[in-house]
Amino acid sequence: MGKDVIIACDFAGADETFAFLDKFKEEKPFVKIGMELFYAEGPSIVRELKARGHRIFLDLKLHDIPNTVKKAMAVLSRLDVDICNLHASGTIPMMQAAIEGLTRPDGSRPLLIAVTQLTSTDQETMARDLLINEQIEKVVMHYALNAKKAGLDGVVCSPLEAAKVHEACGNDFLTVTPGVRFADGDIGDQKRVMTPSEAKKIGSDYIVVGRPITAAPDPVAAYRRCVAEFIG
Ligand code: C5P
Repeated sequence: MGKDVIIACDFAGADETFAFLDKFKEEKPFVKIGMELFYAEGPSIVRELKARGHRIFLDLKLHDIPNTVKKAMAVLSRLDVDICNLHASGTIPMMQAAIEGLTRPDGSRPLLIAVTQLTSTDQETMARDLLINEQIEKVVMHYALNAKKAGLDGVVCSPLEAAKVHEACGNDFLTVTPGVRFADGDIGDQKRVMTPSEAKKIGSDYIVVGRPITAAPDPVAAYRRCVAEFIG
């Protein structure tokens, strides 16, 4: 299972995305496409990025009845994405259906990871809006274990949760962690952050990095610094 840096391509359209990626002459970074870019450009953005040689984490966070998720996942597996995701709160039957949909006739499939609790949900909103009164850490671990039971490959989590997830679910269970900042960088709206080298130490498998690379004066240098700190 490869450790890698995934660049969050949080751009509004294809032109901006390609202008950004054209700066990379020597590397083909692993990229994350989110809802904004996918809904703006549709599946063609995935096909084009694949044709250019990028690996893709398609971050669409599916959550629906099992049959609908299964069919949607079948479409994503035909698009040949490398990682896709869903909400663990959709339940184990939904996650199992997702795996079925994702699995190609030859048995291969993209990696599938689960969002546990969004970091925008805190203890108070979880209790007030969702009527979940357990401690948030317990909920996150419960969802991670559900994802493992359903046969998923890992979870998206804060770098601060990665070690605990590995402890509970095993070291082969992937932790994909956003919220990464350079030690001398601006943290922006992220609240709980780690540097790439700290994320490496605590055992993150993939780090998802957006603005520290996309908004850097020299994005290629920032990407290389991330790779050097996290993998190198
Ligand atoms: O620019 P920045 O490095 O903060 O980007 C992080 C990326 O990871 C964004 O695409 C953001 O939506 C995503 N993300 C996150 N926190 C989560 C889940 C996803 O920052 N809990």
